[in-house]
Amino acid sequence: MTKPANDVKDALHAPEKSPRTLSIVVPTFREADNVPALAERIAAALSGTGIDWELLLVDDDSGDGSEDVVAGLARRLPVRMVVRRDAPRDLSLAVIEGIRLARFDNLVVMDADLSHPPERIADMLAALDSGCEMVIGSRYVPGGAVDQSWSLYRVLNSRLATWMARPLVRCADPMSGFFATRRGALPDLRTLRPMGYKIALELIVRGRLRVREVPIDFRDRSAGSSKMNWRQQLRFLRHLSRLYNYKFGTLARVPFFGAVGASGLVVDLAFYLGLQWAGIEHRLARFLSFWPAVGWNWALNRGFTFSERARQPHLGQLARFTASSLAGLGINVGSYALLTSYVGFFDRHRLLAFFCGIGLGSLLNFLVADRYVYGRPSDAGR
Ligand code: GDD
Ligand code: MN
Repeated sequence: MTKPANDVKDALHAPEKSPRTLSIVVPTFREADNVPALAERIAAALSGTGIDWELLLVDDDSGDGSEDVVAGLARRLPVRMVVRRDAPRDLSLAVIEGIRLARFDNLVVMDADLSHPPERIADMLAALDSGCEMVIGSRYVPGGAVDQSWSLYRVLNSRLATWMARPLVRCADPMSGFFATRRGALPDLRTLRPMGYKIALELIVRGRLRVREVPIDFRDRSAGSSKMNWRQQLRFLRHLSRLYNYKFGTLARVPFFGAVGASGLVVDLAFYLGLQWAGIEHRLARFLSFWPAVGWNWALNRGFTFSERARQPHLGQLARFTASSLAGLGINVGSYALLTSYVGFFDRHRLLAFFCGIGLGSLLNFLVADRYVYGRPSDAGR
């Protein structure tokens, strides 16, 4: 990650002193079994560094005895817990709350389950001095690693998520939950709109933060259980669509809209074949399979492509989307007919005409969806 150009630039800055104070913000949900070991390892890792630190746990009302555990620890160590009782349970929102309540301006955010080695904190703080606004504990720079026990599925999943965020950020591991930063470098916390797990990504994109990475060895938790699930993965896609929209505007929706359209084609095909398999005549099957596909596309575009738009009543919106899809279909088939009838080139290359039709139909569909189906962008939603 260290680029030569950066090194030259950094060398010109007089090196600041390593931070002397530090708030470590840790979101927790049902981590009573992990908190004592976490606090001990942090204390051991920072002893002798001269850093005045606190460990601030932001808990979403776990009800698993975490508070008592922390009360016990607090007699010997600078540990405290705040409990969010009336807020929706959310990792990112817990972290933002922690950043707001932290005693010190130098911040480290990490997980409670010891996946993130506290022994790396000192190096991350040192790197924070050298002209950047965030230091990520990174699994994907040379020297970094993920747990040996990760399944191929988890490896691919993690890589895919990182790849999907590529256009938003330059660093190798923006999905990491382990980072150091300074409060003064962050954007106004009230302008953040994160959802789910990827709080670092949110801060980097909206705060336009300059990032450095230091390698870490990511270990799987040994106690308690992960709260990552398919719901969180869906929330990640919505978060991503929000950030794309923030950074690139309406243009950013085109790939989402295209991906939804492609998945709708699969639904269309499945019904077309399935209905025939059930004994329905092929032309009727063709006619019927269109509708579930349209419903599918409408729902996904509502949930992802246009997820940050103000919510509108389902039925009216579905009706408008269906009308727009029918118009798109008309343009699709109509332009195919025109091109192959009047342009010799397309008559000789009909497959090209076929794809032109799809392209034109989808474009119309997109423009209508953007303007008339999903409402206007609400500022609050971006
Ligand atoms: N307050 C609060 N509220 N804390 C939560 C919540 C919540 O809703 N959900 C999870 N946490 C806490 C957990 O208690 C833990 O301390 C930390 O957030 C991470 O949760 P895990 O459930 O252990 O997440 P993970 O191991 O699947 O994911 C971690 O690794 C990913 C990379 O593979 C996180 O660091 C992710 O941010 C990271 O992307
Ligand atoms: Mn974990």
